[in-house]
Amino acid sequence: MRKSRWGILGAAGIARKQLIPSLHASEQCELVAVASRDAAKAATYAKENGIPVSYGSYEELLADPTIDMIYNPLPNHLHVQWTRKAVEAGKHVLCEKPLALSVQDVEDLIRLRESSGKLIGEAYAMFHQPRLQSLKTQFESRRYGKLESAHGSFYVTNTDPNNIRNAYQEGGGALWDIGVYPITVARWMFGEEPVEVACTMDLDPQFQVDHHTTGILRFRSGGQMSFACGMRHPFHTAMTFYTDTHRMEVGKTFHSDTKGQMIYEVFTGAQPPAVKTYSFEPVDQYMLECENFAEAALEGKPFAGSLEQTLANTKVLLALFKAADSHKFESV
Ligand SMILES: NC(=O)c1ccc[n+]([C@@H]2O[C@H](COP(=O)([O-])OP(=O)(O)OC[C@H]3O[C@@H](n4cnc5c(N)ncnc54)[C@H](OP(=O)(O)O)[C@@H]3O)[C@@H](O)[C@H]2O)c1
Repeated sequence: MRKSRWGILGAAGIARKQLIPSLHASEQCELVAVASRDAAKAATYAKENGIPVSYGSYEELLADPTIDMIYNPLPNHLHVQWTRKAVEAGKHVLCEKPLALSVQDVEDLIRLRESSGKLIGEAYAMFHQPRLQSLKTQFESRRYGKLESAHGSFYVTNTDPNNIRNAYQEGGGALWDIGVYPITVARWMFGEEPVEVACTMDLDPQFQVDHHTTGILRFRSGGQMSFACGMRHPFHTAMTFYTDTHRMEVGKTFHSDTKGQMIYEVFTGAQPPAVKTYSFEPVDQYMLECENFAEAALEGKPFAGSLEQTLANTKVLLALFKAADSHKFESV
């Protein structure tokens, strides 16, 4: 496969921290250019991050014929608009999560993907972790019993008034930003969609975004999942899964570690339990994500962050917001 050629929309923090080092490290991808709304900012960002070309507008980047992949890490409320423009400019688009804030938008993007032949994917890097892929095969094979229950949490500290996550109009809040992770992993591991959800949500008095949210998902087969997320808490992410015979613990579930081992542990139901640890070599999940996206776009391989997955996830998230308002279980 030829090298895929990437351009980035916006001088985003996540790109600087994760995607840019991963694109540089990849032998299959080439990072060609970045665009900012401000030409000087774009030039500085490009220089600091070893990107050959900078553009002073997103339109100029999309007009560059040498680029075939766009990474879209703009604020949530701009994801759909700029993904659409990029596809209309003939590019494949890997867009940050949450790709869309409405079901209608995802359905429109599916139609656009079909009519354009360009791939649109949502950037959930954890889909590309060998550790979580292994856990999924354990549930599929029922080696450790039938998955019945899961709990996931994602907490961060973020009180910055200038951060996009504290901007209601820009699709901010804990559920859209971090609650999405345990929900997405649970849907993946259960291999089915929830039929009903309940949710309780506290809004930040100053910013009006949800800053502490807890929810329940009930799956068609009877499986249950609970999640909690918060933006005024010490950083922590973890998931626990319960089958009828075992418990699985996955620390730092949504992150890859390029230095240390990645593990999950399987506990028997005995007291004290016997523990089996599954260890995985360090991986860069962002690099795997970019390479898998390019292979899907250029060679037609499947991509885990598909619009169909986005559509199902968006329905769950919107049902959770509805349940937080109604204080009742809501169907998905
Ligand atoms: N997958 C992950 O692990 C992960 C982790 C963190 C974040 N994310 C996602 O990535 C996206 C970006 O997050 P981030 O933390 O990188 O955000 P950020 O640092 O604030 O970057 C967003 C960029 O969007 C551009 N922008 C365009 N219009 C804007 C507006 N009205 N307000 C603010 N910025 C605007 C800005 O670039 P210019 O000024 O240069 O045009 C800005 O640098 C979000 O969707 C978030 O959910 C994903």
